[in-house]
Amino acid sequence: MARSQRRFVCESCGAVQPRWMGKCPECGEWNTLVETIVQDAPPTVSGRAPETVLSSRPQPVTDIALSGDQRYPVPMEELNRVLGGGIVPGGVVLIGGDPGIGKSTLLLQLADQVARAYGPVLYASGEESLHQLKMRAERLGIRTPNLLMLAETRLEQIMGHVEQTRPRMTIVDSIQAVYADGVKSTAGSVTQVRESAAALLRQAKELDVPTFLVGHVTKTGAIAGPRVLEHIVDAVLYLEGERFHSFRLLRSVKNRYGSTNEVGVFEMRENGLVEVTNPSQVFLEERIGQATGSTVAVTMEGTRPILVEVQALVSQGNPERPYRTCNGIDYNRMVLLIAVLTKRVGLRLSSQDVFVNVVGGLRINEPAVDLAVAVAIASSFYNRPVMADLAMFGEVGLAGELRSVGQPERRLREAAKLGFGRVLVPRAAQSALLRGDGTEPLGARSLADAVSLALAGDQDES
Ligand code: TYD
Ligand code: MG
Repeated sequence: MARSQRRFVCESCGAVQPRWMGKCPECGEWNTLVETIVQDAPPTVSGRAPETVLSSRPQPVTDIALSGDQRYPVPMEELNRVLGGGIVPGGVVLIGGDPGIGKSTLLLQLADQVARAYGPVLYASGEESLHQLKMRAERLGIRTPNLLMLAETRLEQIMGHVEQTRPRMTIVDSIQAVYADGVKSTAGSVTQVRESAAALLRQAKELDVPTFLVGHVTKTGAIAGPRVLEHIVDAVLYLEGERFHSFRLLRSVKNRYGSTNEVGVFEMRENGLVEVTNPSQVFLEERIGQATGSTVAVTMEGTRPILVEVQALVSQGNPERPYRTCNGIDYNRMVLLIAVLTKRVGLRLSSQDVFVNVVGGLRINEPAVDLAVAVAIASSFYNRPVMADLAMFGEVGLAGELRSVGQPERRLREAAKLGFGRVLVPRAAQSALLRGDGTEPLGARSLADAVSLALAGDQDES
């Protein structure tokens, strides 16, 4: 006979504890443990494994047939890139992002495209009424009768409709709004979300229906409550961007069917999300050449190089308490670069206010942007523009040295494509780079060298 046991599950991180505690030892949140009954497997009398009829069979790896690449490409190339080539039958994809960032918009556009290309799509929304959904569809110019809209929060109902309509794709917006009758816990709780997602996943695999789940993100950045969700789904994508900027990045952080860290770039317009196929060009569009405090960084987003403008403004501040702020890069990284500029390059920044901004609302996490940030600060400090048609990349070390970063050739080629005649790179990377497509790599060993190289010449134009 199965034994049931009392366990305590954390509503915040999903960790299971044997007894109630005020503070979850896993995530440190207070009052998040809730009592749950779990069923243990029936104990065996002898302690030996119970007798089983074997229905599965191990196969030599050499005998397993490779099934053909079953993927449905969608018209949005930027989305294909992030999905790893298209939609996979039975694949379950979680799309996370801040409220209002455009998750529902993106999925409605995807639903429309799949409905027109492949057949019926079921869009189950637990967040909006049919009227609201229709208004969004109107705005996006969606007209296909193959797109079936369902305003429903009950899991059993949603699954019943999937069973009945057998759509080519299901969308559940959002998983936090779904409520499973069989689970005694409030909608949006860890238990509800986990159980609902698991049931949808089973159904997706059984019926081979690709399923997209929307997940809200909490302030801490995790998809609300259940980090457990990230483990059970096949792919996790995040839609990112700044609220007041129109660019949106779709980033894959997990993908069983493709590579992770791929990025798709979109722009939010009046009538929906539009693909940005040439991000470098778009991000540099409004740049004023030869402005002080402005540099161009060559960054990599997944396998794709993207050029972005980095701006810095240095101005006299309160010596007691200089002000520093940044957008698009890590704050601590900026503070570190200011310290290296002060100590290793000799800039007197201790009483200066420093502002850094990555133009376009892009967030850059890789250290290759260090050089562009540091040179932009130096350029503003000396009030001298960097030389014309110069892009740059490289990591800055604490000793003030420049360190190589991954994929220098690709970065150089992208800079060449956009007409940059010179690229400032770490000296170690320079030897590996051939002068290509009319673009010359300029090597620098240290940040101090890089600053004097970048700010030399072409000064009369300022
Ligand atoms: P939405 O898709 O509802 O976000 P989420 O589902 O992630 O919460 O997007 C909401 C925002 O997008 C809202 O501020 C309006 C804006 N928007 C546009 O700018 N253009 C459009 O065509 C649509 C549908 C929305
Ligand atoms: Mg929404």
